[in-house]
Amino acid sequence: MKPPPFDQPSLAEVILLRAFLEAGDTFISGTTLAHRLGLSRVAVWQHLARLREQGFDFEAAHARGYRLTTRPPTLNAALLAATLPPARDADFSLSVLDEIDSTNDEAMRQLTAGRPTPFALLARHQTEGRGRLGRRWLSEPNGNLYLTLAFRPRLPPARMPTFTLWAGANLCELIATFTRTTPTVKWPNDLLFHGRKCGGILTEARIDADHIRDLVIGIGLNLAAPAAGWPAELRSVATSLAEQSRAPLDPNRLTAALLGRMLATYERFVAGDHQAALADLWHRYDALRDREVSLLDGEERITGIARGIDDTGALLVRTAAGRTRRFQAGEVTFARPPVPVSKS
Ligand code: BTN
Repeated sequence: MKPPPFDQPSLAEVILLRAFLEAGDTFISGTTLAHRLGLSRVAVWQHLARLREQGFDFEAAHARGYRLTTRPPTLNAALLAATLPPARDADFSLSVLDEIDSTNDEAMRQLTAGRPTPFALLARHQTEGRGRLGRRWLSEPNGNLYLTLAFRPRLPPARMPTFTLWAGANLCELIATFTRTTPTVKWPNDLLFHGRKCGGILTEARIDADHIRDLVIGIGLNLAAPAAGWPAELRSVATSLAEQSRAPLDPNRLTAALLGRMLATYERFVAGDHQAALADLWHRYDALRDREVSLLDGEERITGIARGIDDTGALLVRTAAGRTRRFQAGEVTFARPPVPVSKS
């Protein structure tokens, strides 16, 4: 079923949840909540009932008020919005959809329909999830993350090539710090753990004559492995954050952190002062650096040692003949499989 355009979490529920998150284990009185909302205590009670239907629970204590005891285990739009820094309220909106063909496609449709930017679309299930180079992105309703951020940057198209690397490097660092794991980024923007893919980014743009009109950044992140296991073709090449971090992950906290980081990433890119930071991040997380890699350049297969990226985002590869070649696009593979890391 098609979602209504621009459906967003209720502002009252976001305000209530933010109050509960700030209060932690402390009770908040119904009067205080009513005051924060600018509504009656009956209205507070009705909103709490609606939040209970979404998987939240609250402990009520006589003369003390309420406190949040249970959060939904799956993505929740109001909780995400409440977890984002408040400064994001004014200009940013998000929607969580049960099912959609592709969050990138839906974001483009909503841009066409005039939804104000920036906004984010998240889906629990994609029926036609897409990856880079025309590939399919497995998008089962298993708690994995399928999300798209949408912008209208009005930047010259020439600025685009480094954007996708900048987004990938920032995603990598956010995952590293948030989950205390050691991911790497494989040019242009695959998120890898020891050579196995955990996430990827599909950046798409609609370009007018002299500027980028619409920009969508689609992120797929494996939080969990599929219940029935990875399909045969992915078994040796895919992994999930649950597998890598070996600790329970709260999808709402992780996603809120990711959204906050990606909004800041975009803003810094538009401001144009990200070049030095990109070089530094890339150096730190580069999965290919000094590894023997292989690429197709037209019909020709090139093998050489990866030497990072240049200012334009091109991959540098030093061939056996001693020549450094630059690649703007394409699919790069490890010439030899990464050394397996033992799991103790
Ligand atoms: C890749 O090939 O590595 C990029 C994968 C990107 C997948 C995400 S999931 C959310 C968004 N919607 C899509 O259809 N694709 C991207």
